[in-house]
Amino acid sequence: MDKMRLETSDIREKNVELIGKLFPCCVTEYRTEGDKVNKKIDFDALRRILGEDISEDDEKYEFTWVGKKRAFMEACSPTRSTLRPELDRSIDWDTTENLFIEGDNLTVLKLLQESYLGAIQMIYIDPPYNTGEDFIYSDNYRIDSREYEEMIGIRDESENRLFKNTNSNGRFHSDWCSMIYSRLLLARNLLADEGVIFISLDDNEQANMRKICDEVFGESNFIAQCVRKRRDSQANLSKNISPIHEYVFIYSKRNGDILNKVRASIDENEYRNPDDDPRGPYKTMPCTNKGGSVYTVVTPTGKEITEEWRFKQETYYALLADNRLVFPKGGDGKPRYKLFLSEKMEEGQLANTWLDNLASNQEATRELKAIFGDRVIFDTPKPLGLLKFCLELATKKDSIILDFFAGSCSTAHAVMQLNSEDGGNRKYIMVQIDEACDEKSDAFKKGYHTISQIGLARIKAVSDQMKKAGDKIDLGVRVFRADDSNMKDIYYSPSDMDQSLLPLLESNIKEDRSDLDLLFGCLLDWGLPLTMRHMSECIDGYTIHTYNNGDLIACFDEDIPDSIFKMIAKRQPLRAVFRDSCFRNSPDKINVVELFKVVSPDTRVKVM
Ligand SMILES: C[S@@+](CC[C@H](N)C(=O)[O-])C[C@H]1O[C@@H](n2cnc3c(N)ncnc32)[C@H](O)[C@@H]1O
Repeated sequence: MDKMRLETSDIREKNVELIGKLFPCCVTEYRTEGDKVNKKIDFDALRRILGEDISEDDEKYEFTWVGKKRAFMEACSPTRSTLRPELDRSIDWDTTENLFIEGDNLTVLKLLQESYLGAIQMIYIDPPYNTGEDFIYSDNYRIDSREYEEMIGIRDESENRLFKNTNSNGRFHSDWCSMIYSRLLLARNLLADEGVIFISLDDNEQANMRKICDEVFGESNFIAQCVRKRRDSQANLSKNISPIHEYVFIYSKRNGDILNKVRASIDENEYRNPDDDPRGPYKTMPCTNKGGSVYTVVTPTGKEITEEWRFKQETYYALLADNRLVFPKGGDGKPRYKLFLSEKMEEGQLANTWLDNLASNQEATRELKAIFGDRVIFDTPKPLGLLKFCLELATKKDSIILDFFAGSCSTAHAVMQLNSEDGGNRKYIMVQIDEACDEKSDAFKKGYHTISQIGLARIKAVSDQMKKAGDKIDLGVRVFRADDSNMKDIYYSPSDMDQSLLPLLESNIKEDRSDLDLLFGCLLDWGLPLTMRHMSECIDGYTIHTYNNGDLIACFDEDIPDSIFKMIAKRQPLRAVFRDSCFRNSPDKINVVELFKVVSPDTRVKVM
């Protein structure tokens, strides 16, 4: 039940609302002081609607919203965050090439820019649809609708709600657009030249998404806005009409024949092999075709038939010679060509935009129940059928697939399942914020306190199941958590430090960071992938880390003796990293630089 307002209304707001009721297209969003977003009348639009001329000088074709520029800047701004390895939560850390990253995807996408630039073949995302009930996102952090109300001031100091915060007032559109825009800008950089992005969405933001994708990926790289049946049955609860569909947007990085054909849906009963053709069962199709080549053919009974034929004359004779034509009516009828089942299967068929035969979201819930028992542990999973369809359309057997709104990790599940079916070695990167599960939810009661725990539990369950069944594909995952920088603030702005305090500062690295944290921080900085093999060895009490056979060697100990520097230089790594504080003094540091120049001139040496 709605609460009484118990205060007079804002007349200005009421007037805007009244005009908005008459002319919805004349109401727009704008930013007020203190970053609040509010509604106002677009007077140009109102004048136009009332038939008054307005200046055309500043007209241009564009799609914009409150916060667009800031979202762009947000995507471009650097981050000092890092990814910290979580070995305890990982599976087969040493051998796997799959990744699960817990953290806000804006930060994570920024962190992956160097290591995975142009390396991702397929992205699938299923972002919040902005239903008015899902979370609201603000530039670089996530807030729930209550915090949002506080931020934009629709609760007063005494916590009284001043007006209803529904999505119908349109206030949420700008924030949602900013949220998705900055992430897509970053995601595009990660796509390979032949890469493809699939985006699930419903009617709430589909029009905005189309415009944003046109801008980010280019209108010419629009492949399709597929309509997908999301419910098997309709719930008679909606107003006017029951929405049982949603959309899958497909954009590519570059224009061209990008998508694979899909398995043809074939009724095998239509195929027979009455003459024991060694190419197997076939069905016959007419050779005639309106507007085709005109010539005369002779049937086995000697009858001459002049027609418009589907094939050029020389092709016709080639088919005849290859026993690919049959003449019905005892050899007297018009020729028909053989369409072999094997060839039809191999050729596949183009996918189309009407996705009514892929599994529904209800099926996705059943799939999740099959893993977690009979409780709804996650509200919005996508079905494996949809994800495998996308994978078949857009990936090769060794592609990397990214989902940065991973949820229950159905994309990871689909990758494992498809690899198991076709012997592929596709690898996935899942990104999921550590969003808390409602304490009253079944998930929480079952011990899953965050959505990322659910996603990882699914990966583990599927992995265990497949291992039990004897699958030999990569069923592991390396888990990382996005966290603030490994370095203290002094590292970034030493000039801010009072010189007299410097000697007190033992290290510029945060005390709670392990060697492995530092190693992976360096990998991100240097743009190395996160899934390569590495080993650590202890030599004379010093720990040496070698990444991918010498792509990088690091030693993060203090007071490293010459012997260790020499040993590392002799191994001639491509890169070497040490702590800045490992040198006793500046001359020692210069000596090490000289040592590498002589022993391993191609090694790039850095300190942190
Ligand atoms: C609609 S669900 C995706 C469901 C998923 N496709 C599946 O099949 O399980 C969207 C997910 O994105 C996550 N999410 C929302 N904002 C995020 C962000 N900024 N960074 C990472 N994950 C986010 C939510 O927690 C939620 O789990």
